[in-house]
This record gives sequence, structure tokens and C-alpha cells, in this order.
Amino acid sequence: MRLLVLGGTRFVGRAVVEEALSRGHDVTALHRGVTGRLPDDVRPLDADRTDPGALRAALGDGEWDAVVDTWAGAPRVAALAAGLLRGRVGAAAYVSSRSVYRWPVAPGADERAPVVDADPRAGATHYAADKRGGELAWQEALPSALLLRPGLVVGPYEDLGRLPWWLDRIARGGEVLAPGRPQRWLQLVDARDLAAFALDRAANGGLYDVGSLPGHASTEELLEACVDATGAESELVWVDEEDLLAAGVEPWTQLPCWVPSTGELAGLMEGDTSAAHAAGLVCRPVEETVSDTWAWLQREGRPAPRADRPPVGLPRDLEQRVLGAALAH
Ligand SMILES: NC(=O)c1ccc[n+]([C@@H]2O[C@H](COP(=O)([O-])OP(=O)(O)OC[C@H]3O[C@@H](n4cnc5c(N)ncnc54)[C@H](OP(=O)(O)O)[C@@H]3O)[C@@H](O)[C@H]2O)c1
Repeated sequence: MRLLVLGGTRFVGRAVVEEALSRGHDVTALHRGVTGRLPDDVRPLDADRTDPGALRAALGDGEWDAVVDTWAGAPRVAALAAGLLRGRVGAAAYVSSRSVYRWPVAPGADERAPVVDADPRAGATHYAADKRGGELAWQEALPSALLLRPGLVVGPYEDLGRLPWWLDRIARGGEVLAPGRPQRWLQLVDARDLAAFALDRAANGGLYDVGSLPGHASTEELLEACVDATGAESELVWVDEEDLLAAGVEPWTQLPCWVPSTGELAGLMEGDTSAAHAAGLVCRPVEETVSDTWAWLQREGRPAPRADRPPVGLPRDLEQRVLGAALAH
């Protein structure tokens, strides 16, 4: 298959490139050459895709069997590429996000949940509208485009630092604040499984929420996998979510991967992803994701923090205060 990846050097796009190469596909990737390197076997196209002339010139008269796009900025930039590629690609997959829904989304909701308003010709406004606008842009150009809406994406090369933060914190050892109920199910997907699903399903199109099923990985299994992978002398100290919230701990950003089981974001860990699984999504064991992510961090170090996203992680003094109160009970 001749595959065009728009992007492809950071995290999800990079996983798509690697998965495609492992399948023997002929891979072209378009980026500016700013944030990463492409494997030698990939044909690079250099362009700033926000510049219509540069994008048109880089794409030339190329034709591909499929294109995968991970764009998260202004919808009109996705629309520009989608419009230029109309009639020149057999299939398209756009990596969107469950952020496109109107939150709060009820636990158990599926792809029919209401989405935010968006305009495929708009400039960048906010993440949800940008991703929804990207979906509309691809659908306008290719009505059969595959739209994938992951919630929490983890795995090697994660550049938001969520799982890397947990690994680094647990590697430091000692008592580690662990959030909420140990048995609470997490909903996540390894970028490599998301990439495989995108390539498997691109020709079929459709719309899928993408994430693991209940029973795949509990909070405890994720954090214990971090203890095992790092070999750290760490003890998880479980603190009720009410106590965390009362202490001012910010879910999701300060304690990555954790959202309270009630409130605005509760549905983030409890979406109905059965359609994706029926269509062939396979989520690898969380232990494999964790150990491969740790191996990557050991091998290549931490990527530079992304300027376009808030930093993640719990300040040490806040963790000490919450742990002190929890252990005093
Ligand atoms: N992480 C999560 O938990 C999560 C959850 C849900 C959805 N998602 C979605 O998953 C996607 C992940 O994307 P990713 O960053 O991992 O994709 P990626 O394709 O690996 O990286 C982004 C690519 O875009 C290129 N790029 C950036 N600006 C460009 C420009 N102006 N012109 C041309 N190329 C440009 C970058 O290369 P250069 O800088 O070299 O140009 C890079 O190759 C995001 O869209 C996000 O919305 C993530």
C-alpha cells in the first residue's frame, strides 16, 4: 500500500509510520522537519502545511492508497490538505479525539453522544472545536473517511508526559500517592494499537471511539506495572478521590491518567468502545505498554515538553502534604 502520513514524527503519527513500515507499506510523510526524524525507509515531503503554496508544491501530483492525518490545530489547515488530496487518495483516516463530545459525557456513552459545534473552515479556537472541525474537513473531502476518537493514548514516544511522569515518579521510590480506588478501570489505548487499527480500517471508513474495554487495566495494574518496569522500591499509598479534590489536587493534569469517578470528566474512562473492538481493535496488555515506554525513556530520554499543552505532574510539596494527611489517619 502507498501510504501518506501527514505528520508522523512525534507520537501517534510516528506509530502509524512504524506500523506501516512493519507491514511493508510504501510510506511517505509530510512535515516541516522541526520536531523529529523520520526512519530512513520513509520518503519525506518537507512543507509547512499551513502554507497553501508550500503544501501544494510538496504534494505535487502524488497519489496514494491512503492518507493518515493527526492534525490538532486550525480546521482550515486540515481542510486544505483534505481538499488538495480529494480524488488522489483511496482512503483517509483522521485521528480525532473524544474531546469532540459535549462534556460532561455520561459513562457508557458511545459515538452517538452530541459533539461541539465546529466549522471546517475556521482558524484555531479551542481543542474540541479544532478536532471536530478537522473531522468535518476530512468528511467533506472524503465522505468515507475513517474518524478515530481515542481518549487517553499512551505508549513509547508519548510527548504529553502522562505515563512518563508516573514512571519517573515511581522510579524515584518511597511512598507514592496513588489516586482513588485501586480497582477502578482505566480506558486507554497504546498508540501502536491505535495505529494498527487505523491502518486496518482506513479503507472501510466509519467512526469509532477508541480505547480499552472494562477489565483491561485497573489503576492499580497500571501503577504496579510502573513499579515492576522501573524496579523501584516504591509503595503505593491509595488516597480517596474526595480527599484529593479537597486538597486541591487537579485531576488529569497533576495526577495524569486520573479523573474522578463523578463529575465533568467521569465518562472519559467509561466510554462504550465496543464498536471499535467489534471492528478489530486489539489492546495489548498494559504491562507491555508500560515496560516499552520505560525502555524508550531509558534509551532516548524525555522529549522536550510541548509548549501547546499544560505541563503534567504533581508538585512534590503537594504530594507530601496529601500523603502526610493520609498516613496520619
Ligand atoms: N495523547 C493523547 O492522549 C491523545 C488523545 C486523543 C487524541 N489525540 C490526538 O492524537 C494526535 C496525536 O498527534 P501526534 O502529535 O502524536 O502526531 P504526529 O503526526 O506524530 O506529530 C505531529 C506531526 O505534525 C507535524 N507538523 C506540525 N506542524 C506542522 C506544520 N505546520 N506543517 C507540517 N507538519 C507539521 C510535526 O512535524 P514537524 O514539527 O517536523 O513539522 C509532526 O510530524 C493529536 O492530533 C491529538 O489530538 C491524542
